[in-house]
This record gives sequence, structure tokens and C-alpha cells, in this order.
Amino acid sequence: MKVLDKYSNKTIGTIDLDDRIIIEQKLQQATDFYQNYKLSDSQTRKKYIEVIISCLKAHKNKLVELISQETGKPIFYAKSELDRSIRTAELGLKYFNKTAIQELDIDLKDTSFKESFYRRFPVGIVFGISPFNFPLNLALHKIIPAIASGNVILIKPSPYTPLTLDFLVKEINQTVPKGLVTITHCSNENAEFIVKHPKTNLISFTGSDQVGWHIKSLVPKKKVILELGGNAAVYIDESAELTGLATKIAKATTLFAGQICISTQRIFVHEHIYEDFKEALIAAFKQVTSGNPIDNVTNSPLIDEVHLRRLLDWIKEAEDSGGKILVGGQAQSTQPPILAPTLIEGGSSSIKLFTEEAFGPVGVLNAVRDYEAGAYQINNSKYGLQAGVFTTSAKVKDYMFDHLDVGGVIINGIPGFRKDEMPYGGIKDSGFGREGILYAMEEMTEIKLCIR
Ligand code: SIN
Repeated sequence: MKVLDKYSNKTIGTIDLDDRIIIEQKLQQATDFYQNYKLSDSQTRKKYIEVIISCLKAHKNKLVELISQETGKPIFYAKSELDRSIRTAELGLKYFNKTAIQELDIDLKDTSFKESFYRRFPVGIVFGISPFNFPLNLALHKIIPAIASGNVILIKPSPYTPLTLDFLVKEINQTVPKGLVTITHCSNENAEFIVKHPKTNLISFTGSDQVGWHIKSLVPKKKVILELGGNAAVYIDESAELTGLATKIAKATTLFAGQICISTQRIFVHEHIYEDFKEALIAAFKQVTSGNPIDNVTNSPLIDEVHLRRLLDWIKEAEDSGGKILVGGQAQSTQPPILAPTLIEGGSSSIKLFTEEAFGPVGVLNAVRDYEAGAYQINNSKYGLQAGVFTTSAKVKDYMFDHLDVGGVIINGIPGFRKDEMPYGGIKDSGFGREGILYAMEEMTEIKLCIR
């Protein structure tokens, strides 16, 4: 399989796809290694995580280059992904002891028992499927908690962006035992085969909601963690501190062509400040730079032309429904596939740019009567990942935290705010379970109780 640079369209690498024979061998190797690893002491887990951190640090430049080329990500943002990846791996060192025995406070006085405790045991083989947008960090969000909690992992990167993880896994496998971290590149059909395979015990998927929920339906008896899409919203209250805010929102919508699950897509503004904020936002969208990732632009190419065509169709649908294009609305180029930063006002609430995940540099702007109407609109979505609220009012802050149906409420910050130790994940169609190293470790383990 050829892997392309998403800006130049040149081939930057090739990847061999595993057939079922190779997949069976990899699963057997993982199973064999797991038999020893599952009861390993925490120092062994720590040692393996340290190897990963060393590899990340030793190959920083190479990894940043691969991330930027194969995703089309602006170079500054690829560097930020590398820094975050090191942090993600270091969190494994913070939490690797969290599966130790925990005493329980159970009343045993009218029994013959003396003590009660539990310990978290690993589930076995984790099958991780990671997305194209953060090919390193979102894969490590599966690999590190798996290792830290005594599991082994088979990981399949996105076929758009397999090179970064392939490079890292080859490096770490020069030091850690075979079977701890195994990479597979395979067809969707073979990925389903692995999902259903009796040797895999937990599926951790990050990607589109259609694929994620399909995976879950395939294996009702397996544990499944789903980090899926969203159409994240912000509410800007009349009380908000507005200095620099329009620039922040324009960047939150267009950074890396909006290909982030928590990219700002729906923008609701209190009607008292709407017209002024709209003018500021138009100016800010016009300032957004687009083009070659190497030039540190904000808005880089989309992952492929299919996504550009889809977005152009959705923009047309918005216009046909009465939406007004305030900025952009057209392709800046088709090769590379770059959509001009696009801001649309209004339109029907049934349009795809309102109801679906755009995954593109497009924002839809609307006025709302007050914060309650803002909350209603944010919740008026099948998704519920993260939301941003800008306000200086304590009442609005509390109201939004209590009423927004999302996995995370960011007050005076964009929905795209994420630190790798945060519990991260969504409700409704946005997913199932949480990542963030400690939370993923909880998902990847089962509590076993002992009374004796
Ligand atoms: C995502 O796109 O789901 C992850 C966003 C992030 O980690 O910043």
C-alpha cells in the first residue's frame, strides 16, 4: 500500500498489508507473551513504558516529519503532537501502580472472614484502531494504558497515516519482547476478523461514529471503547470577555483543516453582541492562513479529495437552505485538497453542517436569545463530545455545566481544549467509555474481589 504526502501527493512510503495467516501469527505471539505479562510486577511495566519514552525522545525530528507529511498537519502542530505524545507516555509512569491491591471497607464481623480487597486485572489482548488525525498520540492513548495495566496490544493505524506508528513500533520492538506491542496493517475486512477473533478481548476504536457503532454491534460480549465524532459547539454569552475571542474561534474551526473531533463547528452567540461579534469573526476568518503544512499555516490540506467534495456538497446544501456564506465556501485548490476557511450564517437546523460531523474548516454561526437557548442548541445534536462556553457570569457557568449533554464542558475555552490526562470521551453518538491514561486503564481492566 502506498502512503502519500498529503500536500505534494508524492509517495513517501509503502506498507505491506497483513493477510489472515500473518494476523493469526501475530495474535498467537501476543497471546503467548501475555501469559507471562499478565501477572508481571509494576516495575516490568514501567521499564517497557520507559523504552517507549526513550524512542519518542530519540526520534523526535523523524516522527514530526512523518506526522506532518502523512497527515498534512502544519509543522508546529505536528511538533505539538510529538510533545503531547511524550507526555501521554509519561502519564503511564505516573499511573502504572494504579492496578495494585486496594483494601475494601466491608463489614465482615458476623462472618468467618478476616480481610477484603480487590485488584484490577488486565483483560488480555487489546485491539486498538487509531485514526489518521493524530497518528502518534491517539495510538499511544491505547498503547500506554494497555501496557501500564498489564495488557498486550495489537494496533492498527489508519491506512491514510500508517508510517509514523510503524516506525515507532519497529523501534520499540528492538528492545521490548515481541508480543507486547504488535502493529498490523490490514484491510477493513481483516480488521473485522480481528475484532471478532476469540483471542482479542477488548476493542479500543477512535474514528467515525458509523464505523465505531458498527464495531460495537459485531461484538456485544466484548468490552469496547469508542472515541467517535462530534460537531462541537461554543456558546458566547453577552457577558463574555471578547478581546481576541474571534481570532481564537476562527483558529479553533480551521486548525489542521478542522480535522479534529473537537474542532469548533457550531457557533452560538448571544443576540445582544451578535452583530459586532459576527463582524470580528468574519475579519478573523479572512486572516486564517492556508496552504503548505511546512509553512506553518493554520488551514492545511484535507486528508483527501473525497472529503473536499463532500464538504462542498454540504456547503451547497447549507446555501440552498437559506444559509449565507460569510467567508470562503469554495475550494482553494483540489490538489492538494484545500477548502478555503468557511464561515456560514444561519441555514436550516437540519443541514448536514449542523447535524453531522464536518471534519473540515467550516463554522456555522447563529444568534441565540440567551444562555438557555444556547444550551438548548448545543444539545440539539446527536453528538456530545465537548463544548465551549465563554462567559464571566457564575450563573451561566454553573448552568452550562449542569445542562450540557457532553463528555466535557470547557468554560472560557474552546471545545478543542485537551490535556492528555483529562477523562476524554463523549456521550450519545460520540462514544462509549473514556480515554485519558488512568481512565483507559480502568476500561482495560476488570475488578477481581477477594474475601478471605
Ligand atoms: C480527537 O480528534 O479525537 C482528539 C483531539 C485531541 O487529542 O486533541
